[in-house]
Amino acid sequence: MAPQASRNLSTLIVQLTDTHIVANARLCHNEIDTSSFLRAAVETVRQLTVRPAAVLITGDLVNEGRANQYDHLKVLLAPIVTAGMPLYLMPGNHDNREAMREVFPDHGELGKGPSCDFVADIGALRLVGLDTLIDNEAGGDLSANQLEWLERTLQQKPQRPTIIAMHHPPFTTGIGHMDEQGLSADAQAAMERIVSVNPQVERVTCGHLHRNISRRWAGTIVATAPSVAHAVAFDLRPGAHGAWNYEPPAITAHHWNGSHLVTHQIGSGDFPATRYGM
Ligand SMILES: [Fe+2]
Ligand SMILES: [Fe+2]
Repeated sequence: MAPQASRNLSTLIVQLTDTHIVANARLCHNEIDTSSFLRAAVETVRQLTVRPAAVLITGDLVNEGRANQYDHLKVLLAPIVTAGMPLYLMPGNHDNREAMREVFPDHGELGKGPSCDFVADIGALRLVGLDTLIDNEAGGDLSANQLEWLERTLQQKPQRPTIIAMHHPPFTTGIGHMDEQGLSADAQAAMERIVSVNPQVERVTCGHLHRNISRRWAGTIVATAPSVAHAVAFDLRPGAHGAWNYEPPAITAHHWNGSHLVTHQIGSGDFPATRYGM
């Protein structure tokens, strides 16, 4: 398809993040029923009135990177696969690349190299996944090879509206205990240099923070998506302790409408409807 014709396609990419699945019938941190949260999110995706061209999960797929946790995740995600929606998985700091590859051998986006980076053309959009995981660490980083690959990949299709997805956001959020386990300052600065000369980057979308935070950055909009399960409490006090809470979980929908990328947060779960417009 000619680039201009492709740009006109309406394209919906749905993002889930920070599912933190543990093995069947167990609770995350002995308290949080992440399996039920994910079931609700999957059903929310299935009930959308516009069919997603892809479903993306931006890391912390499971809580301890164990194969049996990925086995259970696979069962929970099966309705998305059965519905024929392409599914893209990315690692976060709670994940383990080898266990992911073992349980999801048909997921080409996980690759075989030292990191799970990928690029995919989806309808009008280009989706670039950047793996920020450092084995056994909470913080994230990008290698020189990854940054070179990002630069090359963006240069290949400068006209195509692009979403970059990653687990650790490339900015400081103000939630101190999370910023301490953020993306390295060097990687943040290098990415900013690359993205700022690629105006086709419509959005940089991330996980890790378990809540929606956005800012202008590198000439684009960067945002973290809410978890489909538990949230990180909003607390900007210096030195504040980390805390989870049960703010309403949500899925994120990135809609290319033919000329702009518009991002929606959609409550995850079954909500009563009113009669208005029905
Ligand atoms: Fe997380
Ligand atoms: Fe994380």
